[in-house]
Amino acid sequence: MAVLVTGGAGYIGSHTAVALHDAGHEVVIVDNFANSSPAAVDAVRALTTEDLAFVEADLLDDDAVRRVFEQHEITGVVHFAAHKAVAESVSEPSRYYRNNVGSLLGVLDAMLEHGVDRLVHSSSCTVYGQPEVLPVSESAPVRAASPYGRTKLVSEQIISDVCAVRPLAAVMLRYFNPVGAHGSGTLGEDPNGIPNNLVPLVMQVAGGSRGKLPVFGDDYDTADGSGVRDYVHVVDLADAHVAALEVLAGGHEGATAVNVGTGSGTSVLELIEAARRVTGKAIPYEVVERRPGDVAKTWAAVDLAHDFLGWRAKRGIEEMMRDHWRWHCENPGGYRR
Ligand code: NAD
Ligand code: WQD
Repeated sequence: MAVLVTGGAGYIGSHTAVALHDAGHEVVIVDNFANSSPAAVDAVRALTTEDLAFVEADLLDDDAVRRVFEQHEITGVVHFAAHKAVAESVSEPSRYYRNNVGSLLGVLDAMLEHGVDRLVHSSSCTVYGQPEVLPVSESAPVRAASPYGRTKLVSEQIISDVCAVRPLAAVMLRYFNPVGAHGSGTLGEDPNGIPNNLVPLVMQVAGGSRGKLPVFGDDYDTADGSGVRDYVHVVDLADAHVAALEVLAGGHEGATAVNVGTGSGTSVLELIEAARRVTGKAIPYEVVERRPGDVAKTWAAVDLAHDFLGWRAKRGIEEMMRDHWRWHCENPGGYRR
């Protein structure tokens, strides 16, 4: 009896594999290392058990996916595997649709064939674009602004359609901005090349490997003019998956989208200040043009996460910065690839 974690060598998947193990689940990870490395699996095993099952496979390979279900007694799936770089999705849309939608379809078919009826799916706050009302609730209109975002919308739609007619129940977690790292300092985010996201860049500037942080605009309609996001600690986020699987095990039916955030926003300038306090390092920055496609501000309504999943974020921005910094200092080059 095991939970299949697709993309479990990645940033959020690796933390969730540990959380699932800690909650008493057996775990099988499948990953093709498209954006991760075997060292992440080693790190998960070091925090859990040396015999944690890992299969190197591309989820677009239907036969390989089927074999995973034949060789392991899977009771539920947490599906992380996807490409996630927004700008790359604009230049390579078909690669994004193929991987993100194709891998989901392969996993769904294998689940149905093998009578596995519990799915937790990685979705994203990107499905809301710039919300008109804040905090943004799950019933807000969806309007993703990038091919990446649309792969998430299409995936939610596919899951809902399948749940409507087949014995499948799903929780689709709409993550806000995951940051931080495991408290051990041995698991964390290891972006390929130049990071796309704010916090890895802030850590590189604090650590001295990057000169100056570009702040994308200080003329938004926010308190200090910089963009506001709902940053959520990756360990809290991992726990939300455990909670979602418990709800599904309790007999929940259908497909439900749930926001996963803290419920409050932090501006870019506030985050830089928190990182400065925690690291004790100067974080030089320069305000530059707005980044095309950015929303001004978004943060989550978290009532459903609390009422439906019984989950609430426990960790604040300082703890997120502290844990991300520890990971960065102890692994300045990330995992060795
Ligand atoms: P990540 O890139 O670190 O992890 C994704 C993992 O999936 C990687 O290890 C990659 O190698 C693997 N993978 C991709 N395609 C695969 C395939 N075809 N077969 C097998 N493995 C494959 O990303 P992450 O930050 O951990 O994100 C996990 C999920 O959460 C993704 O679905 C992402 O879209 C979603 N999400 C992420 C964020 C974020 O800011 N990190 C926010 C919202 C939603
Ligand atoms: C955060 C804030 C930037 C870099 C992205 C995806 C979204 C979701 C989460 C997957 C913004 C500002 C950033 C920099 C800056 N991922 N910034 N200087 O854009 O909220 O969301 O990750 O689903 O889909 O779009 O995250 O970390 O890139 O930016 O000023 O060098 O930091 O403008 O206000 P974002 P981010």
